Amino acid sequence: MSTTLAASPALKSLALNGGTPVCEKPIPPVSVQITEDDINAVVGVMRSGMLAQGKNCLALEEAFGKMTGAKHMMTCANGTCALQLAYEPLFQPGDHVLVPAWTYVATVSMVVARGGVPIFCDVDPATYNIDPADARRRITPKTTALACTHLYGNPADIDGVQALAKDKGLKVIYDAAQAHLATYKGRGLGEFGDAVTYSLYATKNMTTGEGGFISTNDENLAKDIRLLRSHGETQKYIHGRVGYNYRMTDMEGALGLSQLQRLPANNARRRANAAAFDRAIAQIDGLSAPTETPGAVGIYHLYPGRVDPAAFAKPGDGSSVRDLFAKALNAEGVATAIHYPRPVTRQPAFEKLVKDFPPVADRLAETLFCIPVHQGLTDRQVSQVCEALSKVAAALR
Ligand SMILES: Cc1ncc(COP(=O)(O)O)c(C=O)c1O
Repeated sequence: MSTTLAASPALKSLALNGGTPVCEKPIPPVSVQITEDDINAVVGVMRSGMLAQGKNCLALEEAFGKMTGAKHMMTCANGTCALQLAYEPLFQPGDHVLVPAWTYVATVSMVVARGGVPIFCDVDPATYNIDPADARRRITPKTTALACTHLYGNPADIDGVQALAKDKGLKVIYDAAQAHLATYKGRGLGEFGDAVTYSLYATKNMTTGEGGFISTNDENLAKDIRLLRSHGETQKYIHGRVGYNYRMTDMEGALGLSQLQRLPANNARRRANAAAFDRAIAQIDGLSAPTETPGAVGIYHLYPGRVDPAAFAKPGDGSSVRDLFAKALNAEGVATAIHYPRPVTRQPAFEKLVKDFPPVADRLAETLFCIPVHQGLTDRQVSQVCEALSKVAAALR
């Protein structure tokens, strides 16, 4: 994003205060909310001296398992090792694994870390999640598993994914890192697939700083994952298999339990904010709102809108319309974020593995922008975001 505001003729007509944000403090793209209750919960564990995985992690597993409809819930150190712990028992080195071309890097990198071969599938242009029809076209004789992200908190087309998996005998791992308590057709995400993973990273809708979950409804798989999480230890100092130390601390467990109390209300607030943005964007030519998958209730970890470059003037300096749009929103006091500036298929780590670049993912990398949608927004800030969207769109025609 090398564009400067002054470099754009279109922006000269916009009252951007010479490129200085019109608001003293731009509306931040994320908000990490730690309450006194959160602090007291963590301090309580510290005072107890029982710091490692313990009763708070267990209580968190029980509560989050119930809320997501999963029989077995395991806490772990982060969302990346949650994927690793789920992948290891579910496919073998050399297996081909269908993955979305549009997701966070970890969904794919952990496939490669396991020795699997990622088969990149295109995504739906409106929901941004894996397109089961494209995945079906890309299946190879060595394909044994499918990893599906519920990106931005919007559940994917689970019926489509499960039908494909049933038809082709695939294991399914859902990456719900961004989708805590989202639902599909009235059911918790923990009810679907072979395993579901989550991240509790600092900016997620609920957090433990770093942290994660893996859930499954298969008792044997749950046993395997628990063993892998803790050095394959079957009895004290007896290691039945090679494993890792991917445990969560009990301080994180306590923070998670405390955060979980507020999650339903925070998710509801995010949905209300998103609905306001949907209404505003519906009035603006050249912008598109994200589309919820039919039957899904998302939690808007992020609010990813799209710019249609054809609807706006071409930037004079060769930058993309989206980059200019994001920059102008920033100048209006709305901090935008680009999740993601390129698809995983265009990452140096994976590019050489790609035979046929999925086009929708490439297009999203040029057109998608995220605006603040978090529960920390005031009503006034929600209106400010809506006003900034229409003001910037008008100025860039
Ligand atoms: C879709 C997705 N998968 C996996 C991860 C990895 O989680 P963590 O950062 O907790 O390792 C993230 C984190 O941002 C994510 O967004």
